[in-house]
Amino acid sequence: MESGNIKKNGKIAKRKDEHILNSIEYDVQCNTPSGFDDVTFIHSSLPEINFNDIDTSLEMFGRSLDYPLIISAITGGSPNAGKINEDLARVAQKYNIGISVGSQRAMLEDAALRPTYEIRKYAPDALLFSNIGIAQLITMENDQVEELLESIGADVLAVHLNPLQEVLQPEGDTDFKGGVKRLRELKKSFSYPVIVKETGAGISSEVAQELRFLDGVEVAGVGGTSFAAVEYYRTSEKAQKEIAMKFWDWGIPTVCSIVETSEVFDTVIASGGIRSGIHIAKSLALGASCAGIAYPFLAATYKKKIENASIYVDSLIRELKITMFLVGAGSLSDINTRSLVFSGKTRDYLVDRGFLLEYFARKGEK
Ligand SMILES: Cc1cc2nc3c(=O)[nH]c(=O)nc-3n(C[C@H](O)[C@H](O)[C@H](O)COP(=O)(O)O)c2cc1C
Repeated sequence: MESGNIKKNGKIAKRKDEHILNSIEYDVQCNTPSGFDDVTFIHSSLPEINFNDIDTSLEMFGRSLDYPLIISAITGGSPNAGKINEDLARVAQKYNIGISVGSQRAMLEDAALRPTYEIRKYAPDALLFSNIGIAQLITMENDQVEELLESIGADVLAVHLNPLQEVLQPEGDTDFKGGVKRLRELKKSFSYPVIVKETGAGISSEVAQELRFLDGVEVAGVGGTSFAAVEYYRTSEKAQKEIAMKFWDWGIPTVCSIVETSEVFDTVIASGGIRSGIHIAKSLALGASCAGIAYPFLAATYKKKIENASIYVDSLIRELKITMFLVGAGSLSDINTRSLVFSGKTRDYLVDRGFLLEYFARKGEK
């Protein structure tokens, strides 16, 4: 029995390390764009604000953040993953931004892996998200789920919806039946806020409507890391590789998913290919509350380079503030009211889905 467990748990740690390594060593980014290049702000040649007074702070799930930024769920479950989590947590604390651990499934299966998720000691003030997959949640009792959050001092539970990834993994959990019912049951008596997040294929308005009893969503749309690509590099089977390749760019582009979900939820985390402060600013004007970034943080902190992550965050903040200045937005609530116009495929998509783009184009009128 014990040796079976060790074998199984060795497998989990191996899978975690493979995800990290494949994301770093190969290009696992989508070819389909996130849509931000199809979104244009109306430049203000007379901002009427002082750049130095721009306020990027916000409140979210009971915590104050200095910037509308979250380090999205990445890892945990192997010693290497634990080191990455520690570095990411130190970055979150330094900038007072949010952070999520990766799926906590590994620590459920082997309590010895729990320390690789225990990052509260490195980020005592950060907004911290717990993370578990919907397929695991379906099999868990509420008190087990609460324990997930309590054990790492998390503020919010994020349940990941990752059907694309699971179906492409030979060992994937593909029974998603009863997911909505389970989330509804959980929410009824759960003492923490609950959100759902995708892992790179986006969330539609229809799914958001079904889950409107929850506290928010993280969209994780197409345009950034592709989990089909990660699985493509993990498998050595030719037929599986070919299938993974065909689904490389599957899903809803991030910009479209932000628009789809923010008509349902007040709290929307924009993610999936957020790669600049301009993307963060556009996300907020589209209706998101903040943005989440995964892969670039992993790339920056890999091999213990916290300095790289700091340089990266400094640039994101500067780009965000410059964008806010150029649209005359002194605060995050201001940027939410700034006008945007759409072009290209993003425009076609949103028009076909019935969104009133004139609303976005004229939002800024006083
Ligand atoms: C190596 C790696 C591991 C990930 N593991 C998880 C996970 O355990 N749980 C989860 O919800 N999302 C996971 N994600 C998905 C990210 O949270 C994010 O949604 C996705 O990568 C898109 O963001 P990006 O384009 O900024 O990378 C992972 C991403 C990467 C790159």
